[in-house]
This record gives sequence, structure tokens and C-alpha cells, in this order.
Amino acid sequence: MSESGHDVTVVPTASALEFVGAATWSALSGKPVASDVWASVHEVPHVRIGQGAHLVVVAPATADVMAKAAHGLADDLLTNTLLTARCPVVFAPAMHTEMWEHPATRANVATLRSRGAVVIEPDEGRLTGKDTGKGRLPDPEALYEACTEILARGRVGDAGSSESSLPDLAGRHVVVSAGGTREYLDPVRFLGNRSSGLQGYALARAAAVRGAEVTLVAANVALPTPAGVRLVRVETTAELRVAVVEATASADAVVMAAAPADFRPTRVSDAKIKKAADGSAPTITLTQNDDILREISTTRARAGSVIVGFAAETGDDTGSVLDLARAKLARKGCDLLVVNDVSGGAVFGSPDNEAVVLGADGGQTDVPLGSKSALAHVIWDEVARRLV
Ligand code: CTP
Repeated sequence: MSESGHDVTVVPTASALEFVGAATWSALSGKPVASDVWASVHEVPHVRIGQGAHLVVVAPATADVMAKAAHGLADDLLTNTLLTARCPVVFAPAMHTEMWEHPATRANVATLRSRGAVVIEPDEGRLTGKDTGKGRLPDPEALYEACTEILARGRVGDAGSSESSLPDLAGRHVVVSAGGTREYLDPVRFLGNRSSGLQGYALARAAAVRGAEVTLVAANVALPTPAGVRLVRVETTAELRVAVVEATASADAVVMAAAPADFRPTRVSDAKIKKAADGSAPTITLTQNDDILREISTTRARAGSVIVGFAAETGDDTGSVLDLARAKLARKGCDLLVVNDVSGGAVFGSPDNEAVVLGADGGQTDVPLGSKSALAHVIWDEVARRLV
């Protein structure tokens, strides 16, 4: 039994044992460890391990093991396990960039995905030796988060080939913005807001485990990058706009979970602003920023795309939270609006969220207080229903 309470069986390949020995795996998992099909034959491990699993994770997945899995080879315990598993299967590839980009690997990854496996995009960065590029294994914590999310949902992915079990966002490119922008007054000071980025990151992680190619545009977020997600870091609303508009050109769905500042200082001082000798305070003039959600909703770079906005409302004497939200949905021109009642600032930095998802088609889905991850999945359910 692992620290998190999962019952883990480690199935190393012979090559994996060159890196970490069987004794270590056995001590960590509390179980015997074998890599061929000839150990404990009376227990028929070559079928039992796969049959009994709720999730199979191959990490790191080499080009070789993915080639074998794509072609149904079964010459050791791991590949036998992959053929007998009927649960979700996750591959977390790690290899040099040239191997990842080779047409043979591309074809094998496409085959595995078409059968419902979740193949997590590798990170970019330092590889073995002097090389850098795409091919790094995502951080183990990020992989663990992705795997617990798949286990919690259950229905994502299946090692079998039934089409109904395909992750529902497979083959889709989605863009998520997260965090709060900073509008600089001088090199050290900025106007900012309280957005933590938690909801946007939960959306990105949820889309990745549902098979989407995810671009996450993050403004000043201090959270670990979800596994398999392409991260673009920005600071200001102007930078956020450029990154979102660029990614939107090829996107099937865009979710604007970020809190872009509506205004920026008209003038940014090159030098740090000093206190005046006479004690007077400086006057700051503000200029309105472009409304990114409205722009991408009216431009519609890609026909049929689904665009989602967020609205943090408190309600006022002109209307209730939902009245203001319906008006905002119409004003922005998006397809869905996720409405948070932020009276009292309850949502910021909290792991939980409560919301109403309004549709331009008149739909309304109330999402009770729950994890930001649960809300993320409801939002993707609504998006998936509207994708053509
Ligand atoms: N948004 C955006 N660009 C901006 C400001 C906001 O794309 N410059 C997006 C946010 O990411 C969010 C939605 O618009 O998805 C709602 O933001 P909000 O600030 O609540 O809307 P406003 O139009 O600024 O309305 P209000 O008049 O209530 O401030």
C-alpha cells in the first residue's frame, strides 16, 4: 500500500532495472517485483495484473515500449499487462526530442491515443546529456495529480478499442488563461488583483486528462505546471492578449479564467517613482485595456469554437448576480459564462468554488460548492456538448 493509500504493483522492464533495482521497487511497493512472465507462474501474473488494475501508468514511457504497445507486442510482463488491462492507461513519454518527433513515434502515439490511452505531452527542458528540448518527463507530482484525477473520473480512456471510451477532448486544442495580470507603474510597482490561478490550472489539468492538447496562458501564477500542458507565461493584460489571440487561431475552445486588469497606468515610469519632498502623493492616470474575451468572441478565429468567460459578480442596486451575469454574457458575446458570487471575496485562493454556468443558448447549470477540479469538469462537459 502506498503513502496515498493506493495499492501499487510495480512492473519494471528489464531496461528499467538497469536504473533502479528490483529490491527498491519491492521495498517501496511492499510486493514482489518481476519483469518477465515466468515468475510466480501459478498466479498467472501476465493477465491478472492488468485485469485487476484500475489504472495503468507507464512512466517514463520509452519510444520502444510505446511502439510495442501500439502494435500489441507482448514479450515481457509490462507489455502483457498493457494487453490485458481494461482500465484507463496513461503513458508519460520521456526521450530525446529527435525520438519524440520521429514519424514512427508520432504514428505510435497517434495509435495509442486513438484507442483511448492518455499520452501525456512531455515537458520541454534539460534532457540526459547536454541536450535540451521537448522530451522531459513531467514532474512526478504533476503526473500523480493527473493520475488521481483520471482515477476519480474513471470513465476517461480505456485500453480496449471501444470508441465510446475515448477521452472526450481527444484531438481538440484548448486554450485556458489563468491568474491575474500586473500593470506596472514603474520597474518595481504594479496594480494587481487577488486571482490565484487555481481555477485556471484545474481547467488545464482536467482538459489534459480528457485528452486535449492544452495551451495554458498563465499570468503571475505560482503553482506547479500541470502534466502535459504547454505553458505560456505572461505578466500584463497586453501580453495576455497577444498570447491568447495567437493560441486561439487553432483552438477548438478557449476558457478565459484569468483576471486581466481592466485598466493600466497610462504612463509607466522608467525609473522608480520617488516620494515628493513636499509630501504630495502622485496622481495616477489609467487607460482601459482591451477586452480579450469580447475580442475573441466577436472575431471567432475558428468557426465552431466554444468560448467561455468567467464573471466575478457581487450584485448591486442595478441587479442580482444572475441579472448582471446574463447582461455580461450578451455583452461579451461568448458561448458560456461561469458566474461566481464573490461577495465577501470567498473564492480567491480557495480550493473550492461554487458557480452557475450560463449558456448563450439559455442554458443554466448550477454547480454546488465543490472542488475547483469538479467545476472544471462540469465546464468541459458543457464545452464538449457544444463542440461540433
Ligand atoms: N476579461 C478579458 N479582458 C479584460 C477583462 C476581462 O478577457 N480586459 C475576461 C475575463 O477573463 C473573464 C471575463 O472577461 O472571463 C469577465 O471579466 P470581468 O472583469 O468580470 O468583466 P468586465 O467586462 O470587466 O465587467 P465589469 O464591468 O463587471 O468589470
